[in-house]
Amino acid sequence: MAASPEEFRGQARLPHFASPLRYDLRLRPDLTACSFSGAAAIDVAVSAPTRFLVLNAAELSDLAPSEVVQFEEDEILVMGFDRELPVGEGVLKMNFTGTLNDQMRGFYRSKYECNGESRNMAVTQFEAADARRCFPCWDEPAFKAKFKLTLEVPSELVALSNMPAVEETVNGPLKTVYYEESPLMSTYLVAIVVGSFDYIESSTSQGTKVRVYTQVGKCNQGKFALDVAVKSLDLYKDYFGTPYPLPKLDMIAIPDFAAGAMENYGLVTYRETALLYDELLSSASNKQQVAITVAHELAHQWFGNLVTMEWWTHLWLNEGFASWVSYLAVEYLFPEWNNWTQFLDETTSGLRLDALAESHPIEVEINHASEIDAIFDSISYDKGASKALASYIKKYAYSNAKTEDLWAVLEEESGEPVKDLMTTWTKQQGYPVIYAKLNGHDLELEQAQFLSDGSSGPGMWIVPITSCCGSYDVQKKFLLKDKTGKLHIKEFTALSADGEKDPNFWIKLNIDQTGFYRVKYDDELAAGLQNAIKSKKLSLMDKIGIVDDAYALSVARKQTVTSLLRLLNAYRDESDYTVLSHVCLSISKISVDATPDLSKDIKQLLINLLLPTAKKLSWDRKAGESHLDVMLRSLLLIALVKLGHNETISEGIRRFHIFLGDRKTPLLPADTRKAAYLAVMRTVSTSNRAGYDALLKIYRETAEAQEKSRILGSLSSSPDKDIVFEALNFMLTDEVRNQDSFYILGGISLEGREVAWTWLKQNWDYVLKTWPSSSLISDFINSIVSRFASEAKAAEVSEFFAGRIKPSFERALKQSLERVRISARWIESIQSETNLGHTREDNGFCLAAAAAEEHDETRVKENRVRERGPPKRT
Ligand code: BES
Ligand code: ZN
Repeated sequence: MAASPEEFRGQARLPHFASPLRYDLRLRPDLTACSFSGAAAIDVAVSAPTRFLVLNAAELSDLAPSEVVQFEEDEILVMGFDRELPVGEGVLKMNFTGTLNDQMRGFYRSKYECNGESRNMAVTQFEAADARRCFPCWDEPAFKAKFKLTLEVPSELVALSNMPAVEETVNGPLKTVYYEESPLMSTYLVAIVVGSFDYIESSTSQGTKVRVYTQVGKCNQGKFALDVAVKSLDLYKDYFGTPYPLPKLDMIAIPDFAAGAMENYGLVTYRETALLYDELLSSASNKQQVAITVAHELAHQWFGNLVTMEWWTHLWLNEGFASWVSYLAVEYLFPEWNNWTQFLDETTSGLRLDALAESHPIEVEINHASEIDAIFDSISYDKGASKALASYIKKYAYSNAKTEDLWAVLEEESGEPVKDLMTTWTKQQGYPVIYAKLNGHDLELEQAQFLSDGSSGPGMWIVPITSCCGSYDVQKKFLLKDKTGKLHIKEFTALSADGEKDPNFWIKLNIDQTGFYRVKYDDELAAGLQNAIKSKKLSLMDKIGIVDDAYALSVARKQTVTSLLRLLNAYRDESDYTVLSHVCLSISKISVDATPDLSKDIKQLLINLLLPTAKKLSWDRKAGESHLDVMLRSLLLIALVKLGHNETISEGIRRFHIFLGDRKTPLLPADTRKAAYLAVMRTVSTSNRAGYDALLKIYRETAEAQEKSRILGSLSSSPDKDIVFEALNFMLTDEVRNQDSFYILGGISLEGREVAWTWLKQNWDYVLKTWPSSSLISDFINSIVSRFASEAKAAEVSEFFAGRIKPSFERALKQSLERVRISARWIESIQSETNLGHTREDNGFCLAAAAAEEHDETRVKENRVRERGPPKRT
């Protein structure tokens, strides 16, 4: 038994001798003073005699009783009692006060306009470990308890929480709202929102009421999300074999919001861009983002909220599955979007991050609350997914699970040795590249850990190898358990009688890219695949996988850029959005540093590749065209503008001027507007700044968050350094919400990277203070540092940060520096490829500078896909 509070200092987790059963919480936010007061009565079960209770609290004051020690660093409080607490139950009562902060975490304030005046609303964001900023609690996911909330708020406001209100009593200017008691749930899922809102309502086939709350006057923009929500709930109920567990579901748009959305049980919060959709004002990619986000957060109502990870080490059980299931749901709801193919966007960002030495295993050890935020990245979200989940959900409902628990259920369901196979994937960082070589009738395979810096790590995996030859009807699969393996292909290949290979011979491994690994083919196999691409034999997923692998192998200097170019050439006739977006992504990554003397020609050649399809699509929408063509148009126009294609730039500017005179012109709908804005910014400079000022004017006039994000994403894209500097300073003003800084950061032009770095150094202290949470501060480092590509710069950056490092951005900094060094080495090797100029002429097509880096202005939050530029994620 502990003798002194000191013994609880510096521990990764709370002790288990006492745990909460039920919280009775009363909170009174003051929206004018931006503070709150609260009272908690917590039913506590003591399982071993103790003189202390140890729980979390942060930034709370006036805590009674008085014999309380707070260890601020650990965000815990230890209460000492004169007499030992016996085994059994008791009630712990505390009063406390706190601040409604402006940091978008804990209990915070968000601002909105109402009748021309600025008002505050009160909002919570508790994941991962910020419930403790609102009330004292056992703030770990495994301490599930029931919550009974009571709020005292101004009578005229809407006050929402996880459960429906059971009673409301008005007392002059204040009202007291009592909510139903919740089922067992984790603290990070508790939510409160207080402000003025409108709502629309619908219900599921089971009769669950679903509402979308928006700012007053905007609730029509919630219709699309409401429809997706109702349909997703109906789908998940069948898919998970368990009905939606709560009596109601509310979804609400919050003007200041750190992440893209948050799955609070029964009260899901979103940034406006991720929830609101307007037929006239939103783009096709906005629409897709809303659907994916809603489907993702609602999947969490089962995966995460009903069954919760035991500790943050198993975060992927939440995020990996919600991501995977959301694509499944959207594929089902909107089959014409080809969403399942777009899921490869997630896989490829996982593959990119996990090829860094500074990556981490899926299951990552967490020793302090400050380390949790940094793992909400592509590893947790994108590296891994599976099926047969219904019995897992049933078994662990209202409880917590670890990674092994899932394998045990899957093993039982499938009779396969799931655990041995999967632990090689979840406990080990990284993934393999499979070298495939043809030797007579054998396909020889060898695995090695793939790292972008070109080294090979020590990792070994049990790799599910799938393969097909000449046609998708001829398939073979096996588990590669050792370093090397062989696949006998005699009967598999279509050898003609004289032993000569069929000219249509090709072998594709990792069919449809379902495995988390890359493949490096020998020359013969690679040539076969190129033919297969040209003659349109391959699935969209395989076409994407081949280009993505080839690009990554080239960065790691495992294959020449010349051969990458040769391969890209095979994609000349491609007109599919999902494929072209990956082709564009790959070619956009090479900076002008690589080939200074070639870059102009190179750009021209790339333009030649994209132009035919772009011309076919033109700037104008056609009646009845597909969702994907609309997305492709925007992708291509943005790429052409970034490549400096004059005709596209002048057409963009022409349409922009018409738009300035008539904001409703059909000549510049939401889908093509970003391309036009970027075109305008290509020609802006300090001596010719009308375009910049016109964009600012639109920004100030519009009330639409998606439109604002398009403009913010353009402002810093000018080639003029001074304008970039101005845009960065604009980001620091009150006119840009702190949640939106990453749009400006993500848009910084290549020409502006040096000035952006200078700016960051000058403003570092202020930036760190204003964007303290891990994901936000990491945006600054990722966007600004990762754009460089030289050893000297990496050294300069390290030197600046020496002595300034904090846990919140340490991982982001290490990863960014690693990327800079990888780019530097890659560029050196490209410059040494003497026949590069040649390839260009041969193929009529080559690499380009900074094209289409970020074609999607709607991405919610890109911490995890930062590789694709914000707002997605690293
Ligand atoms: N649980 C997360 C939100 C979150 C992220 C909270 C990081 C705290 C720290 C939520 O379910 C989520 O994943 N949101 C995504 C959007 C989604 C469509 C992938 C996001 O915010 O980017
Ligand atoms: Zn999530």
